[in-house]
Amino acid sequence: MPSVNSSDTTDVLRYRPRRLRRTEALRRMVRETTLSVNDLIYPMFVTEGEEQKVEIASMPDCYRYSLDLLLQEVHQVYDLGINAIALFPVIPEELKNDSGSESCNPHGLVQRTVKAIREAVPEIIVITDVALDPFTTHGHDGLIDDNGTILNDPTVEVLVKMAVSQAAAGANFVAPSDMMDGRVGAIRRALDAEGYIDVGILAYSAKYASAYYGPFRDALDSAPKFGDKKTYQMDAANAKEALKEVELDIAEGADIVMVKPALSYLDIIHQVRNVTHLPVAAYNVSGEYAMIKAAARMGWIDEKKIILETLTSMKRAGADLILTYFAKEVALMLA
Ligand code: PBG
Repeated sequence: MPSVNSSDTTDVLRYRPRRLRRTEALRRMVRETTLSVNDLIYPMFVTEGEEQKVEIASMPDCYRYSLDLLLQEVHQVYDLGINAIALFPVIPEELKNDSGSESCNPHGLVQRTVKAIREAVPEIIVITDVALDPFTTHGHDGLIDDNGTILNDPTVEVLVKMAVSQAAAGANFVAPSDMMDGRVGAIRRALDAEGYIDVGILAYSAKYASAYYGPFRDALDSAPKFGDKKTYQMDAANAKEALKEVELDIAEGADIVMVKPALSYLDIIHQVRNVTHLPVAAYNVSGEYAMIKAAARMGWIDEKKIILETLTSMKRAGADLILTYFAKEVALMLA
């Protein structure tokens, strides 16, 4: 590399990177990363009842919908060009128990909702969450013993049943977000044994124990009643461990691997991108959403520009897909 401007024959600048930034057309021509509506997956919250549309206090512009209104919303989402939704249920307190058994009910809220969406908007891709926290009284993602220890292998058995019941209802992808060991392989074997070979697995592979999930837990009323999730979700300080988790999930049969949260973990997204040819998803989680909404409402930032810059940074880091509560806003901006 010649040192910049060390020209001996002339004092003209040899390197002028600004030359390629002069006009919008030039900037578009040399742009390395683009955000497309095809990259977006929209997380949606479904609740029991009829004609319910309740805004989530810590997630402005995000709602818990009853099934009737959710279907109208899914139509709109699909019309905006968004290909996929990720579904999360708000389970009534009286249906929760220590084992989260409602999660496997073939007529449960998730299963009924998936069936109804499949009929109403057959083309949209429906991704269901596989984890026990919305269904357990204690709010943890797994079964617990008398000491409150989360039990791995018995939990995996329930997750497998839950995933199969979601596939039976018509889910296109099941998305284990629980972080138990071995669940991707166990779910893959069970789906295949039951004939659901085309149902994919979107694995929450590197999911961190993060304070950024707070607003989501408000939305589902699913905050853990004791302790925290640090014995199963990952330590924010670790990167190599994320690659280990990704490696295991791929070996066990994941179709898409995910890093969650996204914004504080762009380095992880980047490293995961470099070790797999599978699609990499990033979850722009509830706390990331809430921070932008709050600052925008205070008039402190330009919401639209910040959203595009933030999601573009996730793509630039290496994500192919982004789960984001901003999906509708972005689809409108890109249209
Ligand atoms: C449940 C689950 C969580 C999120 C997605 N699935 C919360 C948690 O693990 O406590 C968080 C999503 C968000 O914050 O947007 N297993």
